[in-house]
Amino acid sequence: MKSVDFSNPLAVKILNKALLHHYYGIKNWEFPDKNLCPPIPGRADYIHHIADLLGENNFGTIPIGNKITCLDVGIGASCIYPIIGVLEYDWKFIGSDIDPKSIASAQNIINSNSAIKDKIECRLQKNSEDVFHGIIGKEDKIELIICNPPFHASIEDAQKGTRRKIKNLSGKKVKTPELNFAGISNELICEGGEYQFIQNMIRESKKFSKNCYWFSTLVSKQSNLKGIYKLLENIEANQIKMIPMETGNKSSRIVAWTFLSIEEQKEWIETRWKIQS
Ligand SMILES: C[S@@+](CC[C@H](N)C(=O)[O-])C[C@H]1O[C@@H](n2cnc3c(N)ncnc32)[C@H](O)[C@@H]1O
Repeated sequence: MKSVDFSNPLAVKILNKALLHHYYGIKNWEFPDKNLCPPIPGRADYIHHIADLLGENNFGTIPIGNKITCLDVGIGASCIYPIIGVLEYDWKFIGSDIDPKSIASAQNIINSNSAIKDKIECRLQKNSEDVFHGIIGKEDKIELIICNPPFHASIEDAQKGTRRKIKNLSGKKVKTPELNFAGISNELICEGGEYQFIQNMIRESKKFSKNCYWFSTLVSKQSNLKGIYKLLENIEANQIKMIPMETGNKSSRIVAWTFLSIEEQKEWIETRWKIQS
């Protein structure tokens, strides 16, 4: 049977290019091979789940169009979430990243595809310990924050993860896996791993509680959920949602929270989305 060699990073990249071209009309999706190459279905899943969440607030209709602003924390070199969000729902995007090369690469993708041009703004995060400071302005109003956080705490951790992935996909054991299968190290690694990153994000989110409707992040480790809920309760999030995601044999989840009261949510929708849907 003919199939794609999912343990070969180049094969996976070509498949992803074809999917983006066929389903979204993206003709130019170029970024360095050493960068993380995102699987399209899993990324599309996040966008659709978070769109459904907005729909729940809007009597079951997903709000579309450029009145909806989404901030992708860690846009990456591939610009993947904004591409899907713009082409599926015509939302406006801000993409932040700490890596100037990733920002330049995302900008290059935006400039070379007319369908997404002028709909995505890249902003460089100058302080790797910050998530929202320096990115969200005082007057900004953002409907959605999305984030696929760096999840490994160290290079050894990242290598272990890559080795496991290659073994599951190809049945082969590899001693020194090419990290490029899963992205260059600093894309995937941060001090304290996923939990620390999300902890920083939650703490900072409180300071931007009136600028954003829904904050959200992927949580790849189920065992991190308990601590995350506790943190969210401690900082008095008004609503917390957990959305399970299953793609193939990979299970993950989105955690979303808002500080807006029901009254504030109603006012937000009245003033910003009324002419949508
Ligand atoms: C796992 S990658 C996700 C890339 C892309 N969004 C995707 O899903 O394929 C994490 C990204 O977060 C970026 N990053 C790390 N710390 C950050 C911070 N404090 N603010 C914004 N981006 C950050 C990394 O440079 C990297 O591009």
